[in-house]
Amino acid sequence: MHPASPSITTRTPGKVNLLLAVGECGDDGYHPVVSVYHAVQLYEDVTVAWSPEWQLSFRGGRPMPVTDDNLVLRAGRLLAAEATPFLTDNSPERLTASIAVRKRVPIAGGMAGGSADAAGTLVALAKLWRLDVPKAQLARIAAKLGSDVPFALRGGTSIGTGRGDRLAPVIAAPTFHWVMITRSGGLSTPAVYSKFDEMVAAGEIEASAEQPALAHAEAVVTALASGDAHALAPLLQDDLQSAAISLLPELQQTIDAGVRHGALAGIVSGSGPTVALLADSAHGAAALAQSMLARGHDARVVSGPTRGAHVLDADDEA
Ligand code: C5P
Repeated sequence: MHPASPSITTRTPGKVNLLLAVGECGDDGYHPVVSVYHAVQLYEDVTVAWSPEWQLSFRGGRPMPVTDDNLVLRAGRLLAAEATPFLTDNSPERLTASIAVRKRVPIAGGMAGGSADAAGTLVALAKLWRLDVPKAQLARIAAKLGSDVPFALRGGTSIGTGRGDRLAPVIAAPTFHWVMITRSGGLSTPAVYSKFDEMVAAGEIEASAEQPALAHAEAVVTALASGDAHALAPLLQDDLQSAAISLLPELQQTIDAGVRHGALAGIVSGSGPTVALLADSAHGAAALAQSMLARGHDARVVSGPTRGAHVLDADDEA
């Protein structure tokens, strides 16, 4: 393989947690969760081409430093390190690449944009390097990179347990319409989890127990299958929401404004600070987004579920 070999582009969605039930912090520093992940049509595109050295660049989003511990580079190096059993006659001798990421998912926004970048990188490099790697092996590698990376690979809607990385797919549901309210500043996921721990220790909120959380997840899945956004709305729950609001109190006002302007419900997405507002229809989402834009919010209409990391044909490229 040489520098003139073709580039490969993958497209990977961001996510909203329709349910994020969080248990008490374990000895490993992670929290057991019961999550209903829902992939939405806000995409990260990763383009890779063979190069003798690792290179990484980002387009879109606010400027961010490219450090050696960036999740995209970690994904590339980890796949290279684990590639031996999957090499084919056509694999390059040197498993390196230049990687360009086109960002659309907000950075540090609670929508797993960084995890989407890592998942898209794994799929793109597996194809570029002509690795014969089964999906289950790619998912195993993904889980080593972060709790949300396996879901970014898979997309659709899934129940996640463990750290969120153990996935059980949910039957494809009809489309739901959302307005995502993004902010220029991010929230750090570990900081939000620490705040959650503090609030649990102070008795301000309670951690979720597993069995009721699994029953709640089943109820969410039933509402999803019905296609009825009104049935889904009262079931949306994010246990990290209080912690995120405690760090950024204006998030509560954003949720309240969304509901006043027609959202069926509003929740913080994952660890925030993106707020997901559920609309009753595509038209409802457009009108809601318009009202939120008029109030000075950064609003984007998205729908879900949508497929996980996949290779783009030239025709798909937007
Ligand atoms: O798995 P990932 O590297 O994305 O997690 C980032 C951080 O989020 C962890 O270091 C941990 O602080 C927190 N986390 C957690 N429990 C989870 C997932 C993430 O405490 N289930």
